[in-house]
Amino acid sequence: MNFKAVTPAIIEALQKIVAKEHVFIDAESLKKYGHDETEDLSFPPAVVVKPRTPEEIAAILQLCNREHIPLTPRGAGTGLSGGALPVYGGIVLSIERFNKILHIDERNLQATVEPGVINQVFQEAVMEKGLFYPPDPASKGSCFLGGNVAERSGGPKAVKYGTTRDYVLNLEVVLPTGEIIWTGANVLKNSTGYNLTQLMTGSEGTLGIITKIVFRLIPLPKHNLLMLVPFFSAIKACEAVSAIFRAGITPSALEFLERDAIDWALKYLDTSAISQQLLAVSQKQEVQAHLLIEVDGNDTDVLMKECETIMGVMQQFECDEILFADTAEQKNALWRMRRGVAEAVKSRSVYKEEDTVVPRAELPVLLAGVKEIGKRYGFKSVCYGHAGDGNLHVNIIKGDMSDEQWNNTLPSGIREIFQLCVKLGGTLSGEHGIGWVQKEYMDIAFTEKSRSLQKQIKLVFDPNGILNPGKIWT
Ligand code: LAC
Ligand code: ZN
Repeated sequence: MNFKAVTPAIIEALQKIVAKEHVFIDAESLKKYGHDETEDLSFPPAVVVKPRTPEEIAAILQLCNREHIPLTPRGAGTGLSGGALPVYGGIVLSIERFNKILHIDERNLQATVEPGVINQVFQEAVMEKGLFYPPDPASKGSCFLGGNVAERSGGPKAVKYGTTRDYVLNLEVVLPTGEIIWTGANVLKNSTGYNLTQLMTGSEGTLGIITKIVFRLIPLPKHNLLMLVPFFSAIKACEAVSAIFRAGITPSALEFLERDAIDWALKYLDTSAISQQLLAVSQKQEVQAHLLIEVDGNDTDVLMKECETIMGVMQQFECDEILFADTAEQKNALWRMRRGVAEAVKSRSVYKEEDTVVPRAELPVLLAGVKEIGKRYGFKSVCYGHAGDGNLHVNIIKGDMSDEQWNNTLPSGIREIFQLCVKLGGTLSGEHGIGWVQKEYMDIAFTEKSRSLQKQIKLVFDPNGILNPGKIWT
C-alpha cells in the first residue's frame, strides 16, 4: 500500500486536534502500542494519539484521508488475531479515554457505554442493579467493550447467553471518511433497512471507530453450580459435550481443557485457593482432559436436578469422579485457572492460536483431526475452549521448532486444520477475529464472489483504505 509517512507537520496537526499531552512519540509508547497479545508480533507506529470526543476522531480521520496516513484503532490491546497491530505504521488511535458508563437504563434493561470501559467494570456496575451483561472473554479484567464489539468476542457464557453481538443494539460510529452516524435504534427488534449495527460489530476496526455502544441487558440469574469432570480420553470428553444438550440441558458454561492446558495453568497461577482434593483429581495421571460445566438459574432445586442429569450423561462417557466447587472461593479459583490458560501457554513458548469452530457434535472429529495433522507436521498443540459452542482454541506451540518450520511449513498444517473445520460445517474463527494473522486462510471459508462482496463493502466505507489496513482482507 502506498501510504505517506507521518511528518512533524502531521504530529503538529494531531496536537492541534487533541492537545499536546494526548499525542505520544516517545519510544516507550511506540513500543507499547506496537503490539497486542498476538504471538510475538510487534509493529511500532509513528505516533499514538488519544482523543476524547467523536469530533476529535472525525478530524483525525479526515486528516488521514487528506494526507494518506494509515490509522489503527486500538482498545486494550488484548486481541489474539492482531487487530490492533499497526502493520503499516502510521497512527495508533487509542480509545482509552472513552471510559465512561454513560447510562444504565433500568426501565428498559439497556446501557449506553463508551468503548474504553473495561468489560468486568461494566459487568459489576450492572450487577449492582441486579442486571446481567453476560459476554465474558477470558481477558474480561482488562479488555475494553469497544474491542469486544469490534472483534465480536465471546467467552464461556456464550454457550447459553450468546456472544457480544447478541447484546449490541445500537452504535455511534465515526466513519473512516469522518462522518459520525448511529447505526440503528435502541430497540430489541428492528427490521428497518440493512443491519449496519451487526455489520459494524465484528468488523475489527476496518469500517469505523465505535464511540458509543447501546447494550441490552438481562436479569441476573441468582444461583449457579460448577463442576469439574475428569475424563480418561480427550475424545470421549468432546463426545460428552453434545450429549448434554441432547439430554435437554443448556449449561451456562461448558469448557473443555486438555490435560496440558490445566497442568500449565496450575503451574503458572497461584493455586492456593483451589482445594487439594480438586488439585489431586485434576492431576491424576490417567486423566487426559476435563470438562468444566456450570449451570445457572433462580431455583437451586432445578439446578441440582440439572446437575444430576449431567452427571448421568457424563458417566456414559467414562469419566472419573466428578467434583463440585462448594464455595464461591472454589468457583473463582477454578475460573481463574480456566481464564489463565492462554497466559500460561504464552509464558512457556511462542505459540499460534487458532480459534477453530465447528458444529458442536463435530468436536471429537475436529480434535482427532488436529492431533493427526500435528503428527504429520511435527507440531505439539494444546487444545481447550468453549466446547459447548464447538469453539476449540488450538494453541500450536513453537517449542524447539526451527524458524524455517514455524514460518514456512506450519502454515500448510494450519491450512489443513481450517480445511477440516470448513469440511465439518465450521469456520476459521469463533470469537478472536481474522485480523492480521488469519487473513491468508480466508479463501477456505469464502468463495471468490463472497470475498469480493466483502472487499467492496470495505471500499464503500473506506475508499482510501486508511482505516486499519492489512486486516481481514487487505
Ligand atoms: C480463552 C481466550 C483465549 O478462551 O479466548 O481463554
Ligand atoms: Zn476463548
